[in-house]
Amino acid sequence: MKIGILGTGDVGVALGNGFIALGHEVKMGSRKAGGEKAKAWVAKAGKKASEGTFEDAAKFGEIIVLATLGTAAEAVLAQSGARNLEGKLLWDATNPLDFSGGMPPKLAIAGYDSLGEHVQKAVPGARVVKCFNTVGNALMFKPELAGGPPTMFIAGNDEAAKGKTTQLLKDFGWETVDIGGIESSRYLEAMCLTWVLHGLKSGSWTHAFKLLHR
Ligand SMILES: NC(=O)c1ccc[n+]([C@@H]2O[C@H](COP(=O)([O-])OP(=O)(O)OC[C@H]3O[C@@H](n4cnc5c(N)ncnc54)[C@H](OP(=O)(O)O)[C@@H]3O)[C@@H](O)[C@H]2O)c1
Repeated sequence: MKIGILGTGDVGVALGNGFIALGHEVKMGSRKAGGEKAKAWVAKAGKKASEGTFEDAAKFGEIIVLATLGTAAEAVLAQSGARNLEGKLLWDATNPLDFSGGMPPKLAIAGYDSLGEHVQKAVPGARVVKCFNTVGNALMFKPELAGGPPTMFIAGNDEAAKGKTTQLLKDFGWETVDIGGIESSRYLEAMCLTWVLHGLKSGSWTHAFKLLHR
């Protein structure tokens, strides 16, 4: 499939590499085409990789990954063009982190609201699924952990989009737990901070959540 990744940071690279390893074609988008990070990634990732603007990546992808600075997410969607995202599965991996008070960050959007909901409202025609926001980029693709495959908690309004996400997550080495509509992003974005706080306290960043059953 053709995947458009909005974002050239560590998450864009980790998910881009994962999709390419699975045989998909990936275009990475940025504010300006030809940026150093995107060009360096394409040079390493090979023939199935390309880069361009956010709009180029949005047009290219049959599936879209939103992986930008959380506070820029809505601006990036506007630059991508809502018409280019219409009807498409859009993974939202962002967190609304506010680093203005130093570490640990706080959530800039919280309580009865979430960035996931803002994203879905910004592109109402896209089928947004919140995922990959509760784990560090180093473990996003085929995590090898002693306790077996970790759990990716997902949220979104479109059942078929969540079904497709569950299939793809299996290819990425994850089991999936669907926790409901996009408003459940409120809890997934807070879980990101649980992940970060544990990392800061333990000094280790190789952890992932797993839901255990009897
Ligand atoms: N890092 C992780 O391990 C991790 C794990 C889970 C979730 N997340 C979340 O995933 C998202 C991406 O994280 P990241 O660490 O990969 O990258 P990041 O540094 O948070 O974001 C980089 C991307 O944001 C874009 N950007 C920054 N400021 C912008 C602005 N003012 N307007 C438009 N675009 C702007 C950059 O565009 P250019 O390409 O044009 O520079 C770049 O593509 C974040 O929301 C983060 O909270 C991160």
